[in-house]
This record gives sequence, C-alpha cells and structure tokens, in this order.
Amino acid sequence: MKIWTVMAQKGGVGKTTTVVNLAGALTAQGARVLAIDLDPHGSLTSYFGYDPEQDAGSVHDLFAAAATNEPCDITKQPRRTVVDKLEMITSATALVSLERRCGLVKGMGRVLTRQLPKLAERYDYCLIDCPPTLGMLVINALAACDLLVVPMQCEDLALKSLDRLMRTLELFGNSSGRRLPHLIVPTMFDKRTRASRDTLLSLRCRQDINLWPEVIPVDTQLREAARLGVPLTRWQPEARGAEAYGRLLDTLLNNRTRQLRLAEGAA
Ligand SMILES: Nc1ncnc2c1ncn2[C@@H]1O[C@H](COP(=O)(O)OP(=O)(O)O)[C@@H](O)[C@H]1O
Ligand SMILES: [Mg+2]
Repeated sequence: MKIWTVMAQKGGVGKTTTVVNLAGALTAQGARVLAIDLDPHGSLTSYFGYDPEQDAGSVHDLFAAAATNEPCDITKQPRRTVVDKLEMITSATALVSLERRCGLVKGMGRVLTRQLPKLAERYDYCLIDCPPTLGMLVINALAACDLLVVPMQCEDLALKSLDRLMRTLELFGNSSGRRLPHLIVPTMFDKRTRASRDTLLSLRCRQDINLWPEVIPVDTQLREAARLGVPLTRWQPEARGAEAYGRLLDTLLNNRTRQLRLAEGAA
C-alpha cells in the first residue's frame, strides 16, 4: 500500500478536494483506496456523508487508545463511501482537545505508522487529508507516508506558506533522518487574475522545490461535486478540474515520482 499525505499549513487551499479527486481517479483505474480524514474540522468526513461530531468509529478511537496505551484495531475503522472501492476512516471534532491533551505523550507521533501496516493488504493506496495546523496529527501523517502532496493556492500569500512548508520539511528531515519526497501542486489557478499568474511565475522560479509543471484550474464543478458528495473525477471525468486531477495522478503514478524520490534521496 502506497501512502500519500496531502498537507498544507493553510486552510481553504484545496487539500480535501485533492484527496477526494485523486481517490476518485485512482478508483476509476480499479485501485482499492483508503482515505483518512485527520482534520478535526471533518470536511472529508462530511463530504462522504458522515458526521464529525461522532467520535466512535473514527480516527479519534485510534489516538485515544494510543494515549492510554489501550489496544485499538484499525482494521475495523474503514467505512464505505458512495464510491466503489473507496473506503474512509472518518475524523472527529473531538480530535482538537485530544491533540491538546495528549499531543506530547510519548509515541503519539507514530500512531498511524504503527497501525497502517495492518491494512497494507486491503488497499493499494492510502490518502491522508490533514488539518492546516502543524501538530501531532500532521506529524503522524508525515511519519507514515511515502510522498507528500502540497496544494498551493495561486494567490498573494502562497510564497509565505511555501517558506513555512520548506522549514517544516527540513525540521521533519532532521528529526526523522528521512527526506520526504514532495510535490507542490498549484491549485485554484485563474489565468484571468494577476495574482494567479504572478504566483505561478514565482513558484516556477524557485529551484529548491519540486513543482508540478501544470495547474489545477478554478472549476466551479469541483464545488458542485462537493455539494453532491461525489468526486468530480468520477461524476464528470471530462470536466476541466477533473482532467487536471487525472493528469496530476498520472504524474504521481508514472516514473516522475521515482525521479522525485531519487532527487530527494540524493539531496
Ligand atoms: N480548483 C478549484 N476550483 C474551484 N473551487 C475549488 C477548487 N479547489 C477547491 N475548491 C473549493 O474551495 C473550497 C476549499 O477547498 P478545500 O479542498 O476544502 O480546501 P482545504 O481542504 O485546503 O481547506 C471548497 O469549497 C472547494 O470546493
Ligand atoms: Mg480540508
């Protein structure tokens, strides 16, 4: 099972949309996919019709058990979604207080790293949706994954969040002794706005990042799909936004990913 984390230290940049649509595109190719919602806000959970106010059966169970040293079986957590071959582990609002109370308890940063191997035979891919704040939950997602996908909204403050991201990756590399391959994905690109065009140009000038050479355009159909609770990549695969996510998936699947990994390994 390959594990991809979708993370950005900012809200509203397209993280959940990216998880949903990559998951949709993967299942369209026949892959078995597990999506995990680690954001206490629960957007991904709500997307597929579950209630983040309910902590029983959610990812909260795993962290609560780990904090008190009790056993918890992740193999019972996945739930069905409307999409065939896509299952998910829901999030819970209660994760906020749990993270505050237990974030520093020893071993809490590697709960997913310990649990996910139990699901390795059941799924081909696991996609993790993150909250925007860097804490115990995001540390879990970073520690457990093979690849980091970073949506970056094409707007004025993007470069600031890019610097924050590079610092986080450096800190993570220093503490884990492992360099995590990443791909930065420009999202909500609107070629009519100067902010979008300027941001993209600045991103493309940076030598120190792995930038996806294409963009996810602004596409209101992505919002409409969210309203209906389906991935656009399954509902209207020929829509602009869906096609862009299809091409992003191609990049992640073909040997460019291997190149990314090699580049990171050599760094
Ligand atoms: N490419 C896009 N075009 C138009 N709307 C988008 C696009 N990507 C995301 N959105 C919308 O923007 C909002 C925030 O996206 P979301 O994926 O929830 O961000 P995050 O998970 O980073 O907070 C949602 O309403 C989503 O439907
Ligand atoms: Mg989200």
